[in-house]
Amino acid sequence: MFAFLAFSLLAPTATITVDPDKLGHEIPKSLYGIFLEEINNAFDGGLYAELIQNRGFEDASAPPGCRIQNGALIPARTPHFWSQRVSDWTMPWPVKSEYPGWTLEGGSGRAEIKVVEDLPLSSATPHSLQVDIRDAKPARLVNEGFWGIGAKRGDRFKLKLFVRSAQPTTYPLIALLVGGDGSVIASETRSAKLSTTWAPIEMTLVAKGTDPKAKFALKLEQPGTVYLDQVSLIPATTFKNRPNGARADLGKMIADLKPAFIRFPGGCFVEGLSVDCRPRWEETLGPLEQRRATYSPWGYWSSNGFGYHEWLQFCEDVGADGLYVFNAGISCAFRSGTYVPDSEIPALIQNALDGIEYAIGPVTSKWGALRAKNGHPKPFPLRYVEIGNEDQGARYGDRVGKFYRAIKAKYPQIKVILSSWISGIDREAIGAAGKIDIVDEHAYTGAGWALQNFDRFAGYSRKEPWELYIGEFATNGGVGRGNFNATLNDLAYMMAMEKNSDVVKMGSYAPLLENVNRRQWEVNLIHFDSSRVFGRGSYYACKLMAENRPDSSLDAKVEFNGPPPVPLSGAIGVGTYGTAAEFKDLRMTRVAEGSFDRWKPQRGEWSVVDGAYRQSSREAREIWSFFGGDFHDYELNLKARKIEGSEGFLISLGEVEGSRVQVNFGGWGNSLHAIQVNSSSPVVEKRGRIEAGRWYDVRIEVKGRTIRAYLDGELQVQTTLPAPRPLLAIAGFDRAKRQVVLKVLNSSAEPITARLKTGSASTAGWVTTLKGEPAEENSFQSPGKIVPETRHVTDVSSYTFPAHSFTIVRLPSNRRR
Ligand code: AHR
Repeated sequence: MFAFLAFSLLAPTATITVDPDKLGHEIPKSLYGIFLEEINNAFDGGLYAELIQNRGFEDASAPPGCRIQNGALIPARTPHFWSQRVSDWTMPWPVKSEYPGWTLEGGSGRAEIKVVEDLPLSSATPHSLQVDIRDAKPARLVNEGFWGIGAKRGDRFKLKLFVRSAQPTTYPLIALLVGGDGSVIASETRSAKLSTTWAPIEMTLVAKGTDPKAKFALKLEQPGTVYLDQVSLIPATTFKNRPNGARADLGKMIADLKPAFIRFPGGCFVEGLSVDCRPRWEETLGPLEQRRATYSPWGYWSSNGFGYHEWLQFCEDVGADGLYVFNAGISCAFRSGTYVPDSEIPALIQNALDGIEYAIGPVTSKWGALRAKNGHPKPFPLRYVEIGNEDQGARYGDRVGKFYRAIKAKYPQIKVILSSWISGIDREAIGAAGKIDIVDEHAYTGAGWALQNFDRFAGYSRKEPWELYIGEFATNGGVGRGNFNATLNDLAYMMAMEKNSDVVKMGSYAPLLENVNRRQWEVNLIHFDSSRVFGRGSYYACKLMAENRPDSSLDAKVEFNGPPPVPLSGAIGVGTYGTAAEFKDLRMTRVAEGSFDRWKPQRGEWSVVDGAYRQSSREAREIWSFFGGDFHDYELNLKARKIEGSEGFLISLGEVEGSRVQVNFGGWGNSLHAIQVNSSSPVVEKRGRIEAGRWYDVRIEVKGRTIRAYLDGELQVQTTLPAPRPLLAIAGFDRAKRQVVLKVLNSSAEPITARLKTGSASTAGWVTTLKGEPAEENSFQSPGKIVPETRHVTDVSSYTFPAHSFTIVRLPSNRRR
């Protein structure tokens, strides 16, 4: 028995053939880049080294173009760019204090703080803090940092703050870092001569202790009234020691990815809650006190301390090209969708031209001169410009066309990108643009999708007049907060990109950064808090792909008979997202197999009202109730009615390879009907909405892995889910090292032994493996659980690829080119 098992593990069951003498297409240097967006506190409280939260006392302000009513933030109620209807989108306003991040300790009755608007430090930062001390007992003005300030013994911090007083006076300013247990771990005193006008004061604090949750405090012990603004504390050591620079550990993590380009600053951040909230690059330059903050649609203010110039500098420091995203005069389609009229587009185009001039124009130009004044006479590596994010349709395309023509006329070397909606290629927008250099497709997928759709790009036309950029991709459905199953799928996705890099010229994982204290997106690549950082397994996947990008592709043929595909099967469910809805008259017909059971609600408020099964909660997350199990090959009929809320209704159909498959009627802010795997981007979609108060006849046919979804007898969306392939391989040639680079993914639960036929290449080489259990992930406690390991192997002609593994085999070859 033992002998049989050992034999069956070692006997080759697969063959991978690579011919090193048949070079295919060039694999572009631009293939692996990154995407940086202000989400999850990626910049403030993240990459930007600033340690003080709300340094300018602006964080309680309502975002432009929005109002706050009954605890809700309400964007402008003007028509939506596509639908021309007024969106009723809203979100809770999270601010509970006049001065978030700050508290006054020990001051009760004897000291008081309030935010004031008189004598602003600059028009960009209209608020400041008035501090009244009434007697000589000390009070402390405390800033909690971003969930604590990471201080290590010996660290030096540069403090700069602006101060004025009601009367000219000499005031003792005592700056402290205080540990979680109340002990003072840094202290510095300055006897400051204060006048009635603002003046900066600078000090250096040196930590004499270590605490990841230290706080900053100003001890105030002299009666009088002082005003504070722009209280900034930045570590003396930053990434590449840039002043006002990036956090050193996060900067290094990013630099280690060796990104070919950096897309910035969003994402939805570029679009804004309302079009008035959009970021404006020109307001993010120069002295910090003159920078206006931007309200991130992810629900917090971003100081713009990590502004346009800092980002360009960061690109240069990590050797990446810059890809800046300008707003197209449209706000986020899933929030308000407000927009500027076409008559204002010329001004936005001029603004984009000015932005490009700032980055690469001569020092004799207006904006090039400002760049030089800001310390960088040489042009920055700005190479790409994208217009808008996840916009769609002819009207958007027409806007992009106008930007394109103006930009190319002045800067023919800049490549202009059209953002092609939330998934797939928006031909309507591309057609309306007329001409475009690059199209940006986004791909958030569920577990299993990339393994099933490895050949997706093979079906893309090779004749398009534009190049393809996958600006945002990630496996983020059905993988918790990210696990090794997600990594295996991300690898399959990147392998498909690389294999088809004659079409896909660029790609960037999204989102990149997550401060674990503010997770706003389920799955992110690099996790950090005030003092620690780790990369998920997918971080190492991205790093390996970039480090091992060959120069030319080689064909890699896989012969392997995996198990036959399983049909879509499982429990049926009904659900909602941000919406109350009800369901009735459910009938399952033509059922091949399956068993009925009680309804099992998951979350929400379920009840039976007038014979209908009603879900009344409007919570903005998926709320389900499931019944039965093991259904496959069936027809499902039911009636569904939306009562109120932002979307329509969801129907769950069962699972393939452990991933839930669902039909989403009126998803994405009631704009689309779609089939989804694991709640990710649509596998297939159609514009459509669900009206409240109307009963719809829903019919869904499932046969094998084919799904057809109907509303009122009319087919809305259909697809056949392809079968996954457990063994995938791609190959290429590394010219500088003269090596064949073979990448193999074994996503199955069994090791696979394969005969490697690599022609004239050596059979001895270096093997790098990344492996793990599907549910495993790195963590602060075990940051090195899933990391690659490299070793030399003398003969790879028969090689066992471990279960759930990614392997890179580098074999010397005597090809010259
Ligand atoms: O990456 C997170 C978000 O996903 C981006 O802001 C947006 O472009 C996409 O919908």
